[in-house]
Amino acid sequence: MKKKTKVAANPLFTREPEADLRLARSGESVSVALEEDRSAGLEAGQAQGTSEQDTGIAAAAAPDEGAGAQEELPFPARRTSQYVRDEGAGAQEELPPDKRPKYIPNYIGSKRKLVDWIWGNTPQGVKSVVDVFSGSAVVAYRFKTKGLRVVANDRLHYCYHAARAIIENKSTRLSDADLEMLLGDNPKAGSFVQDNFKGIFFAKGVHHVIDVMRANCDRLEGFKKDIALFALGKTCISCRGGFGHFASSTEYGRRRPDNPEEWRERFADNVRRINALVFYNGQECKACREDVNILLPKTKADLAYFDPPYATEFSTTNYERSYHFIEGLMTYWKGLTLRADTKVRYYETDHETVTKNNANAFFQTFLGNAKHIPHWLISYRDHAYPNEQEMKKIIGGLGRDSRIQSKDQHYRISSRRGDASRAIELLFVCRRAAGAEISEAEAKAKERET
Ligand SMILES: C[S@@+](CC[C@H](N)C(=O)[O-])C[C@H]1O[C@@H](n2cnc3c(N)ncnc32)[C@H](O)[C@@H]1O
Repeated sequence: MKKKTKVAANPLFTREPEADLRLARSGESVSVALEEDRSAGLEAGQAQGTSEQDTGIAAAAAPDEGAGAQEELPFPARRTSQYVRDEGAGAQEELPPDKRPKYIPNYIGSKRKLVDWIWGNTPQGVKSVVDVFSGSAVVAYRFKTKGLRVVANDRLHYCYHAARAIIENKSTRLSDADLEMLLGDNPKAGSFVQDNFKGIFFAKGVHHVIDVMRANCDRLEGFKKDIALFALGKTCISCRGGFGHFASSTEYGRRRPDNPEEWRERFADNVRRINALVFYNGQECKACREDVNILLPKTKADLAYFDPPYATEFSTTNYERSYHFIEGLMTYWKGLTLRADTKVRYYETDHETVTKNNANAFFQTFLGNAKHIPHWLISYRDHAYPNEQEMKKIIGGLGRDSRIQSKDQHYRISSRRGDASRAIELLFVCRRAAGAEISEAEAKAKERET
């Protein structure tokens, strides 16, 4: 069945990759998606889990105009100034709050749709927050708009660049000249993407564009480089024809993939979006790239927000595996070894994700490291390990009272049926139990304050 829906025009958001992603995953043929219903099927905490099971979603979609239809275009395919001529790199000054666009991430497990709910459950009077597993940084960004001092942390480079670009950064934006440079040629560019990922993830010609753009990112520094790398990763994730992750080698989804020219336009669009999100909230916000258990003991904040990876009855989530291509690209695979025996060219890593077997110890350890932080908010879901009762026990064992808020969510993933297609999104709102002991670290901090 073919649905046609009118899409409202917004000059800042001329294209919504999230809608594309959702359509690529749904079995039906839909012309355009509803403006107000544009979440990626993988968002809003709906679909953490691009485990091996989950990657089947994309494989189900048949290519219509496959890669064969693409012709390699000379680079640059057209004058780069054409991409920046009309709209340029977008806002060059801080936009007032009512003009600032919404941040729409394309990240697995992103809580984009839940940020109001999360903010509504944030204890009053909290002035600083650490978003420990920040991912797309969409929750951290909401806290920033509310005037809090925010620390956004994630172990992945891509997430770190995203958080540097829109959380820590107060005022740096890419100029038209920067954008033109990023879109231009670079004779010194390497060919790692062309050599190692030929025939997968992108249309012919795009691999070369990515190699060149990545080399151009190195011509920038500081927050400008963070914006460029964030835009580059975001474009790889959101481009048409892809799956939003890199755990599947199936050529393309249902839709014709972006050709090099379209890909560059999408990149320019992403730069405009990111530029428009940059603002100063009067606080010294910070981005970190640490393991949770290294970060927490040395971080002071009124509130810790936790949105950890979790294992459920249906899948496990391994973010590094799902985003291996982006993660490798951020450092241009420096020091990494590709595994030739894998179709999608994973790199070798000893990172272990959360599984049914280690989940209990994982939660116990990182929550134990947050004992000095007075308030906790923990995003969670049903059918996960440990289950809600076990979680309550862990939280209680660490001297916290907790109450659970819940919200029904529906996955829009065609491969999921029954229980696996629904999730109850949970939020543990925790505060130190009356009379509970404070940690040594906090006692010292209190001593210093008085
Ligand atoms: C559910 S996602 C967070 C999504 C995020 N709240 C959002 O709205 O986009 C979990 C994140 O935890 C990160 N992560 C996993 N293990 C970690 C660890 N040991 N230390 C720090 N970050 C970790 C992953 O890279 C992933 O980005």
